[in-house]
Amino acid sequence: MEYVTLGRTGLRVSVAGLGCGGFSRLGLGTGKSEAEAVALVRQALDLGVNLFDTAAVYGTEGVVGQAVKGVPRDSVVIATKAWIPRREGRSAAERAVASLDNSLKQLSTDYIDIFQLHGVSSRAYDQARDIIAPALLKEREKGKIRYLGVTETGSSDAEHEMVRRAVEAGVWDTVMVAFHMMHQNARARVFPLTMAHRVGTLLMFAVRNIFSKPERLATALRELTASRQLPRWVADTPNPLGFLIHEGGARTITEAAYRFVRHEPGVDVVLFGTGDPDHLRANIAAISAPPLPLADRQTLTKLFGHLVGVGLDPPYSMPGLTLG
Ligand SMILES: NC(=O)c1ccc[n+]([C@@H]2O[C@H](COP(=O)([O-])OP(=O)(O)OC[C@H]3O[C@@H](n4cnc5c(N)ncnc54)[C@H](OP(=O)(O)O)[C@@H]3O)[C@@H](O)[C@H]2O)c1
Repeated sequence: MEYVTLGRTGLRVSVAGLGCGGFSRLGLGTGKSEAEAVALVRQALDLGVNLFDTAAVYGTEGVVGQAVKGVPRDSVVIATKAWIPRREGRSAAERAVASLDNSLKQLSTDYIDIFQLHGVSSRAYDQARDIIAPALLKEREKGKIRYLGVTETGSSDAEHEMVRRAVEAGVWDTVMVAFHMMHQNARARVFPLTMAHRVGTLLMFAVRNIFSKPERLATALRELTASRQLPRWVADTPNPLGFLIHEGGARTITEAAYRFVRHEPGVDVVLFGTGDPDHLRANIAAISAPPLPLADRQTLTKLFGHLVGVGLDPPYSMPGLTLG
C-alpha cells in the first residue's frame, strides 16, 4: 500500500480509502450481515488501508467503530459526515453538532479525524460556511474534530461549483470530488485549485454503477450517442471500452477505472466501495498498480474528456440528492 500526505492536514493516508457508503455500504446494502461488514473492514486494515469514509446516513459508523477497536486509534483516519438540509437556517449549527456527537457515539471514539458536511449543494454552501462551520470549529477546539471537510453532491453539481468556492474559503481542509473515466472535468475545474490551496482530495464515483454494471454502461452510451455527445459507432460497438483490456493494460473495466483516477495529479485518496472480499483485494491491487498505458489514457481523454455529469447515480431515491 502506498501512503500520501492529505493536503495541509499532514495526515499520512493510504491511497486506497474504504468507502463505507454507496450502493454496497460494506455489504449491508447488498444483504450481508454486520459481522461480515466488520470482517471486511478488518481485511482492509490488514491490507494497509488506514482511511475509512463513513457517514451518519450510511448506517455503517457502528461497523467501522467495532472493526477498528483492536487497533491503536492513531493508526486509522476516520472520516464521517453530517447531512444538514439546506432550509435549516440558524438551527443548522445545532443539528450539525448533534450529528457530530452521535457519530462519536456510534464510532465509539473521542474524536473524528475528518468531519465532513455531506453532499453540500452550491445553494446550501453559504449556510455551511457561515452558520455550520463556525459551530464545528468550536467543537474542534474541544478536541472532537481534527479536520473539517465538505463533499459535493455529484449529480446536481456536475461542474463542481460548491467545491470551487469551498477550496478558497480556508475553512475546509479536505474536499470529496467526483471524477471518473467519463466525467473528467475535475482535472481542469478542481485539482489545480486544491493543489494551489493544499486542500486534501478524496475521490468518489471512480466505478459506481456505470463501470460495474455492463448494462448501465450500455444504456449510458446509447443515451450519449442519441444526444450526439458521442459518435454513433461507440454505442454500436459490442464492447466499446474493450480497448482498455490487453496485455500490459488492465484486466477488467473496474481495474481500468481505479487505475485511471489514481494517478491523476491532485488526487490524494481514491475511495472504493464494496461489500465483497474479492473485490476489496482486486480494488486495492488496481489502485496500487501503475498508470494505464499512455495510449489508453489518451484515448479515454479524446473520447470522453468533454463529457460532464455522466454516471453519477444517487444510491438513495431522494430527487436531486446524492448522499453517496
Ligand atoms: N456525496 C458524497 O459524500 C458521496 C457520494 C458518493 C460516494 N461517496 C463516498 O465514496 C465512496 C465510494 O463510492 P462508491 O461506494 O459508489 O464506490 P465505487 O468504488 O465507485 O463503486 C462501488 C460499486 O462498484 C461495485 N464494485 C466495486 N469493486 C468492484 C469490482 N472489483 N468488480 C465489480 N464490481 C465492483 C460495488 O459492488 P460490490 O459490493 O459488489 O463490490 C459497488 O456497487 C462511498 O462508499 C462513500 O464513502 C460519497
